[in-house]
Amino acid sequence: MKILVINGPNLQLLGRREPEIYGKLTLEDLEDQLKQVATALSVELEFFQSNHEGDIVDLIGNAPQNGFSGIIINPAAYTHTSVAILDALKGAGLPAVEVHLSNVKSREDFRHHSFTAAACVGVIAGLGFDGYEWALRSLVKILNKND
Ligand code: DQA
Repeated sequence: MKILVINGPNLQLLGRREPEIYGKLTLEDLEDQLKQVATALSVELEFFQSNHEGDIVDLIGNAPQNGFSGIIINPAAYTHTSVAILDALKGAGLPAVEVHLSNVKSREDFRHHSFTAAACVGVIAGLGFDGYEWALRSLVKILNKND
């Protein structure tokens, strides 16, 4: 089972970017944490970070033919703006879980609405890196049920 982990704009700056909100650990630290969980669950992960909406749209659109069974996505700022990523997720038809490091509901009003969540089986926000871990565990359960 192969799962695609997508991180959107500015998440390459983790560790340096607003550490009081996003913490002091880096994207590499996040990937290392997730790899350990993936090994324990016997699933394969591929990581992708981009600051470009179209690249994320392409990646999602190609995910089924590239052998992915599910998607974990933190669309970052595109969460609140991107109908294109929403449509890509719907088009791909793979189960997806949306993750946010911060609790977007406790932040500015413009972060309260997610376009992309409508195409996801669930959303996890505010649990930092652990949110990705719970997303992975849930996705694997969902995919095993679908077998
Ligand atoms: C974020 C929340 C978004 O509102 C913000 O634009 C981000 C990160 C999060 O992980 O908490 O870049 O998705």
